[in-house]
Formats: sequence, C-alpha cells, structure tokens
Amino acid sequence: MAGPAPAAHENWSSRLAFMFAAIGSAVGLGNIWKFPYEAGEGGGGAFVLIYLAFVFGIGVPVMIAELSLGRRGKMSPPNAVRSVAKQEGRSNLWSIAGWSGVIGAFLVLSFYSVIAGLTLSYMVDSFSGSIDTLDASNSADYFGSITGNFPLLLLWHAIFMGLTIAVVARGIHGGLEKAVTWLMPALFAILILLVSYAMAVGDAASTFKFLFQPDFSKVTLETVIQALGQAFFSLSLALGSIMAYGAYVPKDVSLPKSAFIIAGADTAVAILAGLAIFPIVFHYGLEPGAGPGLVFITLPVAFAQMPGGILVGGAFFLLLAIAALTSAISLLEPIVAWLEEHRGINRVKSAIGGGIAIFILGIGSVLSFNYWADVTFLRGTVLDNLDFLTNNIIMPLGGLLVAVFVGWRMKRISIRDELAPKSEFGFALWLFMLRYVCPLALGLIFMGFAFRGLL
Ligand code: PHE
Repeated sequence: MAGPAPAAHENWSSRLAFMFAAIGSAVGLGNIWKFPYEAGEGGGGAFVLIYLAFVFGIGVPVMIAELSLGRRGKMSPPNAVRSVAKQEGRSNLWSIAGWSGVIGAFLVLSFYSVIAGLTLSYMVDSFSGSIDTLDASNSADYFGSITGNFPLLLLWHAIFMGLTIAVVARGIHGGLEKAVTWLMPALFAILILLVSYAMAVGDAASTFKFLFQPDFSKVTLETVIQALGQAFFSLSLALGSIMAYGAYVPKDVSLPKSAFIIAGADTAVAILAGLAIFPIVFHYGLEPGAGPGLVFITLPVAFAQMPGGILVGGAFFLLLAIAALTSAISLLEPIVAWLEEHRGINRVKSAIGGGIAIFILGIGSVLSFNYWADVTFLRGTVLDNLDFLTNNIIMPLGGLLVAVFVGWRMKRISIRDELAPKSEFGFALWLFMLRYVCPLALGLIFMGFAFRGLL
C-alpha cells in the first residue's frame, strides 16, 4: 500500500481555540444527561468520589497520551498512530489504536445524534409552552409519544446531523473554531444562570448532601465499572476525537497542562449540571435516581410547576443541545480527517458523505424507540447493542492500546520531546499510571464486560 497521502490539515489558531474545542468535545450529553442520573443511582457522593479518582488517575494520563499521539502523527487517528509507530520502528498494526477510535466515533455519533435530536424536540416544545402542562401522571406518556413518533424523531435526528455536517464541512478555522467560540461561552452562561436559579428556589441542602456526602453502601463493582466508563466517555477518550484534535495543536502548547484544564472543566460542568438539576428535583419531591428519564421525564414535571418554567425549561434543553453539538462535531472530525487523507476527498464532500452514512446507521437507533422496540438480540435493541459495543468493548480496548503503545512502545526520548515535562516527578507519575494502572483498569472492564456479554 502506498500509504496515506499527507493531507495538510489546519492547526488551531490559538491555544484558547483548542481549549474551547476540546472542552466542547468533552462537555456533552454525558455531563448533563448521563452523569446526574448515574450519580443518582450510584449512591450520590460515593459515585462522585470514585468518578473523580478515575477522571484524574486514569482519564488524564490517557488523554495526555492521545493528544501526544495526535500531535506527533499530525493526521487522522489511524494514520497518526501508523506514522508514530513507523517513526518508533514498531508494527503498522498499532494503527488499530486509531482505527478503533474512528469506528467507535462513527457508531457513537449514530445514536448520540438521536438523543441530541430528542433534546431539540424538547427545547422547541418547552419554549412554545406545549409541555408546560405536564405532571407526574403524564410526563412519561408524553416522552413515549415523542419517542414513539418515528417520523418526528427521524426529522430531529436529520436536523441535528445537518447542523453537525454544516460545522465540520467549513473546516477547523471557518467551522469548528467559529462554532465553539460562540457556543462555549453561551453554554457556560446558561449553566451559571440555571445553577443560580436552582440554588435560589430549590432545595440546596438536600442537593449538597446527596452529591457530596458519600454513602459507600450503595457502591457495587457495577458502580465502579460504570464510573470508569463514564469518565472515559465524558472526557471523549478512545473515540478518536481527542487524538484528532491533538493533531491540530501547535507545538508550543503544553499537552499535560491542557489535559488537566479539559478534565477540570469537564468535571466542573458535570457537577454544576447536578447542582442545576437536583435542587429542583428535591424541591418538587421528585425521584433523584430516575435513570435516563431524569432529564426527559422527571425534570419537565418540575419545569411545568415553576413560575417561568417555560423559559427555564427551554434554556435547560438549549444547554443540552449546545453541549451535544460541540461534542458531535468532534465525533465527525476524525472521520472527515480520515476521508480527506484517504483518497483526497475534499472536506465538504467528506463531511456530507460521512454524515449521511452516520445518519443512515442512526435510523436503527430511531427505530429502537418505536417500531423496533421489541426487536431485541444479544444486549437488547439496536441502540442497546451499539451502546454496549462502544462503551464496553471499543472504548476500553482503544484506551488500552493507546496506554500500552505510548507507555511501553514509544521511546522515552520521543515522549519527552512531545511533552517537554517541567516536573520529573509529574512525568514519572504519569508514566507509571499509563504503564501499569491504566492497562490494568481498562483490561478489567474489558474482560468483565466481554465475559458478561457472553453469558
Ligand atoms: N464527551 C462527550 C459527552 O460527554 C461524548 C463524546 C465522547 C464526544 C467521545 C466525543 C468523543 O457527551
């Protein structure tokens, strides 16, 4: 094989642009939709503590490794890893570490877009006042009527993919950077407003107790594994995004420092999302551990009861939609970068072609809510299977390969060159986590799930 044509990708125009884009990738449905309900089910503060340990002990070291691979390889994940492997005199097969990311991103975006479409639908219905009448008796039925409506869900999925394609097609400077420079400040502003509102009118005391007082009696092995998976997903690891974004980072930017800022901001948003949601949930006497329906079924009941709920609810779903969009563009980017390199297909065509293929695969997830809700195999519906495959197999495997490659297969001198470590202790600690702790933890989830998947 002739090898990929070196495609000249753009670089981020500033460190801030890169930070906004990477934080935009990390902050998504995972923080605002998933984290609060997982914390709710996993014992509140105990889950939060375990989660924090995984974010900084395992997520950050892997993020530094991914960013380094991206920047050293300067191409889309499969070609970046292949190029670094070549420079290091290692096998081409390591490019699997990049392939798993691109394939994972393709699969994840197909269903991520469906859930994101749902948030758009709720946003419009909130602002228009049409869900201002919901109460505990009919909120779940309303959710069912939306998800049961195949054409409606399909339309929102198409609109969301259309938005994602429109941003990515415009390139790094004209598309991604422009979008995140507007959207990230908007996201933070809405979040701060919602937290202030929730704290002022809601039950702050119960929220603090719930989120920060650890009750380890609720913690099971399942909770621990879930927290690790959530940390990985929330930091956008092992799905190509962070590695692809790393390829555009100028050489003078410190990758370790960037990784800490991204992880810190991502975690702060997850906790702030909890501080925006739970005071309201407790104030209205609703159930905090209500699973995936917490945001779509429980919260609308509170919005309907509160004064100004139309605006607060609308703003909340707008927040979710923005967070989802800046994540979705980072899932499409590695795929588009790869298509561009592969046969020199231009960016616009790559974004449209890749986006349409993802849209089509996503129809399986749309159907999982309605016509195919009873069509189950292996782990459940099409959506359940895609979620299982990506979260429990592709992500831990991809993370493991990255950790082993960078930790064990790259020359020390190359890593030093890339990271320019300021502290010897920090460097040694990072390498230790990457070489021993990360592979062990990721290997365990992978094996645990692979076995359970067979049972
Ligand atoms: N981190 C995003 C979230 O929390 C999801 C995501 C995963 C985005 C992997 C890109 C890559 O929702």
